[in-house]
Amino acid sequence: TSATVYLNTQRVISEISPLIFGGFAEHMGRCIYEGIYDPHSPLSDERGLRRDVISALKETNYRIMRYPGGNFVSGYRWTDGIGPKEDRPRRRALAWRSIESNQFGPHEFMEFAEEIKTEPMWAVNLGTGSIQDAADLVEYMNLPAGTLYSDMRVKNGRKDPYSIKYWCLGNEMDGPWQIGQMDAVSYSDKAVQAAKLMRWMDPNIKTIACGSSATAMPGYPEWDLTVLERTYDQIDYFSMHHYAANPYPTISNTEGLPIDTDSYLASSLHFEEHADTLAAAIRVAKAKNRSKKNVHLCWDEWNVWYRAKGGDGGWSEAPHILEEQYNLEDALVVATWLNTFLKKADVVKIACIAQIVNVIAPIMTRRDGMFKQTIFYPLTLFSNHASGFALDALVRAPLRDTARYGGVPQLDVSASFNPETGEGAVFLVNRSQTEPLQVDVCWEGTAPNSVARAWQMGGEDPFASNSFEQPENVVAREISVPRLDGKRLTLELPPLSFTTFLT
Ligand code: AHR
Repeated sequence: TSATVYLNTQRVISEISPLIFGGFAEHMGRCIYEGIYDPHSPLSDERGLRRDVISALKETNYRIMRYPGGNFVSGYRWTDGIGPKEDRPRRRALAWRSIESNQFGPHEFMEFAEEIKTEPMWAVNLGTGSIQDAADLVEYMNLPAGTLYSDMRVKNGRKDPYSIKYWCLGNEMDGPWQIGQMDAVSYSDKAVQAAKLMRWMDPNIKTIACGSSATAMPGYPEWDLTVLERTYDQIDYFSMHHYAANPYPTISNTEGLPIDTDSYLASSLHFEEHADTLAAAIRVAKAKNRSKKNVHLCWDEWNVWYRAKGGDGGWSEAPHILEEQYNLEDALVVATWLNTFLKKADVVKIACIAQIVNVIAPIMTRRDGMFKQTIFYPLTLFSNHASGFALDALVRAPLRDTARYGGVPQLDVSASFNPETGEGAVFLVNRSQTEPLQVDVCWEGTAPNSVARAWQMGGEDPFASNSFEQPENVVAREISVPRLDGKRLTLELPPLSFTTFLT
């Protein structure tokens, strides 16, 4: 079987926002404590930051980092996390039935973000928090000294304002599990007032309103239309959350449904539809508001998540919750998700994988070490090599039947070209479990001079994964580069594989 991909560096979808390669660090499970921060580990520096984790996060090259939650934020009092560590309160974190020690707070996070050179994206508490608390936090983080909270920041060791630009107005406020859940109108009213005050504090900020928690929510997409319409003037981005599963849930749990890898590997059809629906909702809200500005999508929670579902921390510190172990098929779904971001580069301008360490994450730690999960590899290859413009690739590929989506192209492709560096990148997933695929890549217009590097990950077992015992069972390996023959090259893609090459 064969397929053809036509590329033209003049036929572009949009410029790629580097912020689509973002992460999310929540105070939950072992993401912060025992993940990023562990003063008891021999692998940590004098600040308690895990050096091995920092170096893996740098490899992934996250450009933006959402913090501090997630469900956690809807009960979080940011003032708990500042000042001398010995004076910080221990509290019950109700969202994950855990104990929060507050040993890691705003200053520690900013030190971490500066260390891995990522832009912070701060979520304010619109659950138990007031619009005043949100404005006070902006004052604390962003204003020059001279007022109550900015002076407090200086006293706590940071003279210059942090000038945080991106602010999420709450988290998943439509979810019954959310502390302070609201209906769409109440949420919109509160988000607008919070954004207004936050902007009065600092006019340079960008705000992000909450979309539906999932496409399976009963309120989707009505919630999104209502919130967009009512908040449009006060927001810059609209958030979307989406977790994939095998089998794909029609409701929010997968219990009793049979595993269906063929459909699972076609999940990006659903991802694309989600982005298209919300992009359409944005257009409607823009027209209804007679607005000139554009709001973009901020896909600030995305990943595979369905096995480690229990979020009960048993009122302990750093509980082992949501420690999903990823396999090959998950990595392929993640690769098609990243393809989706490039295909939707005109509307998706921020995206954050949920999350970055231990909790549904590409890396897992123990006190004495860490390993990289399967999903680490596509994430890192895209983040480091997709830049410039997303190309509108024309793909001719055989269709394969799936129970959930009907006929689905066996090949999923995205491509980028950066006119400044001259670097091109092509990302290909062969979704078939059994059929190899011969792919011809043809350049219309200008063709590259050579292929610089290529990587591939794959295998026969979709459920193969990595662990502390077998840390490199499923990895992306560098392969010999395909030979360019004039304006085309031919690649052999094994079944169940992800391939990237750079020109
Ligand atoms: O990322 C884990 C959780 O998933 C987040 O806290 C919440 O926003 C979502 O439901």
